Amino acid sequence: MDRILIEGGVPLEGAVEISGAKNAALPIMFASLLTAEPLDLKNVPDLADIASTQKLLQHLGVSATHVAGEPSRMVLHAPSILSETAPYDLVRKMRASVLVLGPLLARTGAARVSLPGGCAIGPRPIDLHLMGMEKLGAAIELEGGYVHAQAPNGLTGAEIRLPQPSVGATENLLMAAALAKGESVIAGAAREPEIVDLADCLTAMGARIEGAGTSNITIQGVTSLHGAGHAIIPDRIEAGTYAMAAGVTGGSILLKNARLDFLGAAKEVLEAAGMVLAPAEGGVLARVAPGGLKGSDAMTRPFPGFATDLQAQFMALMSVADGAAMITETIFENRFMHVPELARLGARINVHGASALVRGVKELKGAPVMATDLRASVSLVLAALAAKGQTEINRIYHLDRGYERLEEKLGAVGARIERVP
Ligand code: UD1
Repeated sequence: MDRILIEGGVPLEGAVEISGAKNAALPIMFASLLTAEPLDLKNVPDLADIASTQKLLQHLGVSATHVAGEPSRMVLHAPSILSETAPYDLVRKMRASVLVLGPLLARTGAARVSLPGGCAIGPRPIDLHLMGMEKLGAAIELEGGYVHAQAPNGLTGAEIRLPQPSVGATENLLMAAALAKGESVIAGAAREPEIVDLADCLTAMGARIEGAGTSNITIQGVTSLHGAGHAIIPDRIEAGTYAMAAGVTGGSILLKNARLDFLGAAKEVLEAAGMVLAPAEGGVLARVAPGGLKGSDAMTRPFPGFATDLQAQFMALMSVADGAAMITETIFENRFMHVPELARLGARINVHGASALVRGVKELKGAPVMATDLRASVSLVLAALAAKGQTEINRIYHLDRGYERLEEKLGAVGARIERVP
């Protein structure tokens, strides 16, 4: 299994190109199931999760191929659906696979999707996805670890109230409602930029959607959708991660293609912690303010709040700040697996329930550590970039799920990083 070796202590300087957003690309790839015509996507990142999705879609009858000479362009085409089953071994690897449910049900009237099972960051149920599909008229049964959804006469528009703004449930319901009969309203919808990107792509395919990006989305169902071209938005989590790579090493990085408005409260949180994020030519410039990093609190919230997917990285940043920071996780249970690994590098962190108190230290020291999930892993990379001496990160397949060409991008801004088999 590959490992990453990092020799820390170099302030990172230069520019990093931000890739297309994984979490926007995944639902949009699943949207290809909704039409018999090709969906032509640009800015698709080259990641393990994208490859898993490609594999699942191919199993269902979608040809999903890269365009020769254009590695970030992918054409997905589902003239007919060959299977209505998303099997366990494909769903297990990636929770977002549950996003086949809405599109399959809407297109064919039936879907069998393996329950995703537990995952490293808490139980993560799919009850809201199922409740919404039932509201749209689907009959849902659970059998043998599979969700079996049926709507032989098609789905019917309905008002669905989400008690919690689930990103995945909003996306699944948006895709299902696009082909339902009549009007649907998703109240309490998630407002993430990835939802807006999915809605933009569906609209280009002929869907009638209003209010994406707000808590109330209205969809007028149409009888069929057509092919379209769409470019995926830049990855706000990748941008926030590289911003903090600049911060933790005391450097300065131009985040090419990044959008400040997509960072939501992360901008204010990072600025309160002693960083500056400013619009710059072609993107956003991230650097440490003259006073240096200061301990500052953060609480994860749905967008536009501070993203849970940046929580681990912020903890690495606060590990070397002057003073203490209280970091509270409100979205997922059990999302502090990075704490004991950061402690191996010398970070001083105490966890009390859903909050972690981080007391900044003068210096972290390199050590062997183990990656546990995607964002936890990259927090170890950030801490290692700041640490004195060498850090060896094991189980890095987690990083390949969500960070495109990580070593290359960090190497280009001066990091001493290498992947060894
Ligand atoms: C998406 C992102 C993930 C991010 C998360 C929160 C993708 C592929 N993944 O995950 O990176 O961390 O949003 O921003 O876009 N919940 C339920 N019942 C449900 C669905 C969710 O109780 O049916 C709960 C979850 O357990 C969690 C909260 O709602 O506590 C938010 O989850 P959700 O927004 O659905 O996250 P995902 O879409 O899985």
